[in-house]
Amino acid sequence: MPRPEAPGLASLEGRIALVTGGSRGIGAAIAKLLAERGADVIVAARGLEQARLAADGIEAAGGRATALGLDVSDRAAVARIIGELVKERGRVDLLVNNAGLTRDNLLLRIKQEDWDAVIDTNLRGTFQVTRAVVPSMVRQRYGRIVSIASVVAQMGNAGQTNYAASKAGIIGMTKSLAREIASRNITVNAVSPGYIETDMTRQLTGDQQEKLKGIIPLGRLGRPEDVAEAAAFLLSDAASYITGQVINVNGGMYM
Ligand SMILES: NC(=O)c1ccc[n+]([C@@H]2O[C@H](COP(=O)([O-])OP(=O)(O)OC[C@H]3O[C@@H](n4cnc5c(N)ncnc54)[C@H](OP(=O)(O)O)[C@@H]3O)[C@@H](O)[C@H]2O)c1
Repeated sequence: MPRPEAPGLASLEGRIALVTGGSRGIGAAIAKLLAERGADVIVAARGLEQARLAADGIEAAGGRATALGLDVSDRAAVARIIGELVKERGRVDLLVNNAGLTRDNLLLRIKQEDWDAVIDTNLRGTFQVTRAVVPSMVRQRYGRIVSIASVVAQMGNAGQTNYAASKAGIIGMTKSLAREIASRNITVNAVSPGYIETDMTRQLTGDQQEKLKGIIPLGRLGRPEDVAEAAAFLLSDAASYITGQVINVNGGMYM
């Protein structure tokens, strides 16, 4: 795979990266870019076949990637599978907590299981995976963690109380953990995307998309690659003095 822009501080050569929800959308774009910058990427998702397709695509382009079946909302499985991964690979240098889902509804109509599903995947999943990975980062006195938040955590959105709460939780967790483990040379940041063209937003009607474009100063929805660039930067040594931050990638929608 050509790595034209990888030299120097942006390079991720030799790093082992775990990307949750790496099989499609934003996660797949992040996995691809990290591999282009030289990282050995573990593409994790519940659907192993789709994760394999994404990893195969990276390998076919000359990068290094393997697929991992992982449901971040499954407490026991996360501890076991990440434990095995760290034992086998020795460490995880870069962690991207990207796995996420929506179950939208107005507060008075939301089903308890839809509230729980969103919190369990987006927030508790981020906690579980991070907790399983951090000991190996602490041991080696090096690590980079990026979690994917959302503009909705910062602005609120009718119909997304569960999702906004989960993403605001990620922002609070990011800042607190950044303070906890900065002395171990581990940085912890969040990337907060606006509306990005993926399966998650494909359910928006044409009318909804047009309305959105009207409130996005840059006048378009984002691309997964826009988010990937910010994540790759925060994971690189070019960002070694940045921790506890939320980088907004939203076309100016929230500023
Ligand atoms: N698209 C946007 O406009 C937007 C905006 C702001 C923030 N975000 C956030 O960005 C992240 C990626 O979103 P996206 O739009 O790329 O979503 P997407 O296209 O729906 O992809 C979601 C990814 O997460 C995986 N996933 C879902 N639940 C999982 C679980 N329990 N365990 C492990 N993997 C799981 C999916 O694979 P499996 O289904 O096979 O597990 C898939 O790889 C999410 O955290 C989302 O909240 C998205």
